[in-house]
Amino acid sequence: MADVVFKNVSFRYGSHAVLEDFNLEIKSGEIFCLVGSSGCGKTTLTRCLLGLNRPSAGEILIGGVCVFSASRHIDMAVERRNIGMVFQDYAVWPHMTVGENVAYPLKKKGITRRETEERVKKALDLVNMGAYSGHLPNQLSGGQQQRVAVARALAAESDVIVMDEPFSNLDAKLREQMLDELRDIQKKSGTTILYITHDQQSALRLCDRMAIMEPGGKLCQTGTDEEIILHPKSRFAFEFIGVANFIPVRKSPDGTFRLIAKEREFDWVPAQDPSEAGERFLVGVRPGDIVFDPDSPLRVTVRRAVFLGGEYDYFADLGGTELRIRQNSQETENGVPVREGTETGIRFCDCRYFPKEEGAAI
Ligand SMILES: Nc1ncnc2c1ncn2[C@@H]1O[C@H](COP(=O)(O)OP(=O)(O)O)[C@@H](O)[C@H]1O
Ligand SMILES: [Mg+2]
Repeated sequence: MADVVFKNVSFRYGSHAVLEDFNLEIKSGEIFCLVGSSGCGKTTLTRCLLGLNRPSAGEILIGGVCVFSASRHIDMAVERRNIGMVFQDYAVWPHMTVGENVAYPLKKKGITRRETEERVKKALDLVNMGAYSGHLPNQLSGGQQQRVAVARALAAESDVIVMDEPFSNLDAKLREQMLDELRDIQKKSGTTILYITHDQQSALRLCDRMAIMEPGGKLCQTGTDEEIILHPKSRFAFEFIGVANFIPVRKSPDGTFRLIAKEREFDWVPAQDPSEAGERFLVGVRPGDIVFDPDSPLRVTVRRAVFLGGEYDYFADLGGTELRIRQNSQETENGVPVREGTETGIRFCDCRYFPKEEGAAI
């Protein structure tokens, strides 16, 4: 177990700056998810931590030990950094059995045969692959191969395990199962895990804490999943972590508010006081925080109703602006869902205010 610290790390490919003054602290024993869209610099960061990329500035510490410092000319060799790694592609060696795959890094470290056997057994049992020790990877499913890769990282008793999109190739149901299992395994082993993904749902399912990375390698918010969802610091964070509707608002001289949809404006009575928000701002509202209310002056026409089993996902037109609305199928009015083509009213039960330009939440 070890904490991981990135201090003012900068990295560029030629003239393309991927990370600039990047700072992040991961606590010992936690599962930390770094989530960001494709191309924002996540793998580049992983490679800097592993020692495969050499930053132009900054420091990286693992368990208080400096493994890289540009100014102090420290650049610890990859194998001495003691980091376990699980990649997206099934990175198990195809010619070795499951047991040999997990044992290989231990052999390279010079661990005795007896201890190796014990650790391999323990790690394979932890990932529910104890019965497959003699199998070859091509006899296993994708999910099982990824379990072997996780066991290999666990058996090496690394200070930190880095996982870069490890379950992205698995179907949604198996991915959820693997994430839940990984969380259990991590709680038992206590290993520090840095889990990298572009998928918010995976991050929410897994993490103790998470950070959202913006294009250009900047972190826009770090915190627990609840902090980020309930108190998004910026429009980007609000939008990234789930479906969000944004509608411009204008404050009239008489102190009332107008919602400015594409083709018409509506009088609007905010549920929360927007007095800090100024004359013009955006209201951000989650689909689940909009309810149908036939008496409301905010008039919508329901264009599409998608039945998802437990809930309906609606696409509604508010004066030319498309809104997403979500409603629990149990809570539909009189047990009847709102049908496509219905003209009705809506209310916002909860909302957030954001400046018109990208920036911090108000
Ligand atoms: N070997 C490379 N040479 C040049 N540019 C690269 C290389 N690897 C990645 N990049 C660029 O760096 C940026 C970040 O890439 P990457 O770290 O792989 O993003 P992510 O893992 O978040 O999808 C992208 O713009 C990508 O095109
Ligand atoms: Mg990547």
